[in-house]
Amino acid sequence: MNQPLMGGVAPLNAPAYIKQQKLINWVAEIAALTKPDRIVWCDGSQQEYDRLCAEMVAAGTMKKLNQDKRPNSYLACSDPSDVARVEDRTFICSATKEQAGPTNNWMDPAEMRATLHPLFDGCMSGRTMYVVPFSMGPLGSPIAHIGVELSDSPYVAVNMRTMTRMGKAVYDVLGTDGEFVPCVHTVGAPLAAGQKDVAWPCNPTKYIVHYPETREIWSFGSGYGGNALLGKKCFALRIASNMGFQDAKDGHPGWLAEHMLILGVESPEGKKHYVAAAFPSACGKTNFAMLIPPASFKGWKITTIGDDIAWIKPGADGKLYAINPEAGYFGVAPGTNEKTNYNCMASLRENTIFTNVALTDDGDVWWEGLSKPAPQHLIDWQGKDWTPESTSKAAHPNARFTVPATQNPVIDPAWDDPAGVPISAFIFGGRRSTTVPLVTEARNWVEGVYMAATMGSETTAAAAGQMGVVRRDPFAMLPFIGYNMSDYFQHWLNLGEKVGKIDGATLPKIFCVNWFRTDEQGHFVWPGFGDNMRVLKWMLERIEGEAGGVENIFGTTPRFGDLKWDGIPFSPEEFETITSIDKDAWREELKLHDELFTKLAYHLPQELIAVKAMLEQRLA
Ligand code: OXD
Ligand code: MN
Repeated sequence: MNQPLMGGVAPLNAPAYIKQQKLINWVAEIAALTKPDRIVWCDGSQQEYDRLCAEMVAAGTMKKLNQDKRPNSYLACSDPSDVARVEDRTFICSATKEQAGPTNNWMDPAEMRATLHPLFDGCMSGRTMYVVPFSMGPLGSPIAHIGVELSDSPYVAVNMRTMTRMGKAVYDVLGTDGEFVPCVHTVGAPLAAGQKDVAWPCNPTKYIVHYPETREIWSFGSGYGGNALLGKKCFALRIASNMGFQDAKDGHPGWLAEHMLILGVESPEGKKHYVAAAFPSACGKTNFAMLIPPASFKGWKITTIGDDIAWIKPGADGKLYAINPEAGYFGVAPGTNEKTNYNCMASLRENTIFTNVALTDDGDVWWEGLSKPAPQHLIDWQGKDWTPESTSKAAHPNARFTVPATQNPVIDPAWDDPAGVPISAFIFGGRRSTTVPLVTEARNWVEGVYMAATMGSETTAAAAGQMGVVRRDPFAMLPFIGYNMSDYFQHWLNLGEKVGKIDGATLPKIFCVNWFRTDEQGHFVWPGFGDNMRVLKWMLERIEGEAGGVENIFGTTPRFGDLKWDGIPFSPEEFETITSIDKDAWREELKLHDELFTKLAYHLPQELIAVKAMLEQRLA
C-alpha cells in the first residue's frame, strides 16, 4: 500500500495500519490535484502535536507562552483579513437551488466544481499536506461519524487534535470500507521554489463549499476557525444536518444536528436531567454550559456535555439521545473572566491555543474584559505595541481559545459516553431587549417548533454596524442549516410526530428564554450568568411535574412566586418588566414572523401557519 504517487510530486507513503484503499486512493487523487511537496499522515500523538507546534513557532505562526504561567500553550495571530467565518463565501451546492433554500448561498455543483478546480490545482505546492482523520463523537458511537480532512495548514492539524477525536484509532473504526466525509482544505497560498513563507498564509479569495449529495467539503483561502477546522460548522452542522434529514425515510425519523450546548442539571435530591440549548453565536453559550449556581442553590450541580453542537438521535425507547460531536471548545475569549465564567478560565490554564488575543510583557495572554485595569503594556493581536490609551482593541473581538473539553472542571461524567445522554428539554433563546419574556414553556411540540422557527436576535454593533436590528435566526441555525430551512422545520415536526408515537415516549419539553430584556434606561434587568440557574430550576421542576406556572397567549410562564429568589434582591416589579406581554409589540412581532414565512413559503409546513393563525386569534 506504500506505493509512491503515480507521476506525482510527493511520495504517498500511506502507513500500513490504514486498511481502506478507497481512502488512500482519495488522498492520492487530492495530492495529484493540489501538488504538495510532502504528505504527513497525522497519528494524533502528543509528540506529533508538540513537533507541529514547534515548527509553527519556528515559522513565526505561533509564539510559545510563558511555560510557568501558561504551560504548553501558544498564541497564534492571523492575518488581519482572516479573522472570522465568512458567511457570504459559504455555499450549499445541492443539486437544485430549492434544496439549499433561500437562506443559503447556492451554486450549481458542476459549476462550482469547475470554479474550484483551477483554484485547487497546485494550491499546496511548496507546502505539506496533512492527512487528519477524525471522529465527530466518541469513537465507535452509533451517533458518531468519521471525517478525514486534508489540509496544508499545521495550525488546522493541531487544532483538530483538540477539537475532535483525531488520530490513528479513527482508522480502526473506518476499517476496510467504513464511510467518511472527505474534507479538503487549503489556505490557498502555494509557494514557488525558494519563496519565503509568511506567518499566516491565506488568500483574499475564499470559498467554503458543501456538496450535500456527495457529502464533501471543500474550503479555500482561509486558515481561521469554522472556515478551516472543517469538523465543526461545515461537517457537524451543515453536512450533518443534511445527513439527519436524508436519514428520515422508510418510517425512520432521521436525526438532528443542532447548534446547541448540552448541560446536565442535578437537584440536591439527585434528580438529574440533560437539556440542550440553542442561542445564536456570541450569546453566551459557553457561559451557560459551565454555569455555577448561586450560593443559595446549595447542592445544585451543573455539568457540561458540550458548549456548541449537539447530535441527537431517537432511541428505540422514544427518548432523544444526544452527544457532543466535538472534543474541545473553540470559544470567544473577549468578555471571559473569572466572574463571567470561572470554569472556563480554569479550563484555560494550560494546553491551550489562543488565537488573536494580546500578549503580555511576561509572556501570558490578555483580552478585553479579562481584568481591570488593563495591563500598562501589551503586544496587540496585530503585533503592535498597545497601552490603555490606545484606541484600537488589544485582542480581536472574535479572538478565540482552543482547549480540550477534559480540562473543564465541571465536565459531565457521561460527556464521552457513546450512547449519548437523554434530552429532557430544549431551550431556545435570542437577544431581545423587548417583547420576548424571560421564559415560556411551549404547550406542545408543534408550538415549540414554531417558537424556535421564529426566534430572532438583536444584532450587536460590532457584527452588523446597525445596533438593535432583529435578525431572524431560526433555531440559531441560520448560517448552519445544510438544506432548505422550511424542510428543516418539517423535519423537526415529523421527527416529533414519529418519536411521539413510540410506546412510552415523552418528547422533550420546549422552552423559549430571553435573558436580555432591558428597562426604560436600557439596562439589562435580569442578572444572567449564575442566576440563570433560577430559570433552569423551574424548568427541571416543570419536567418533574412539580412547579407551577400560568398560561398566557404563547404558553406557560412562571409567576414571581414560582421561581426561587434567595440570595438576590429581585422585586416583583422587576419580574414584571421582563415577563410582561405587550400585545401591541406582539402584533408587530407577528408581522415579522409573516415576513419570514413569506421568504420561506416554498415547503413551509402548514402546521406553523396554523400556529400563527391561532396566536393571532389569541392576540385579538
Ligand atoms: C461559533 C459560532 O464559533 O457560532 O461557535 O460562530
Ligand atoms: Mn457556535
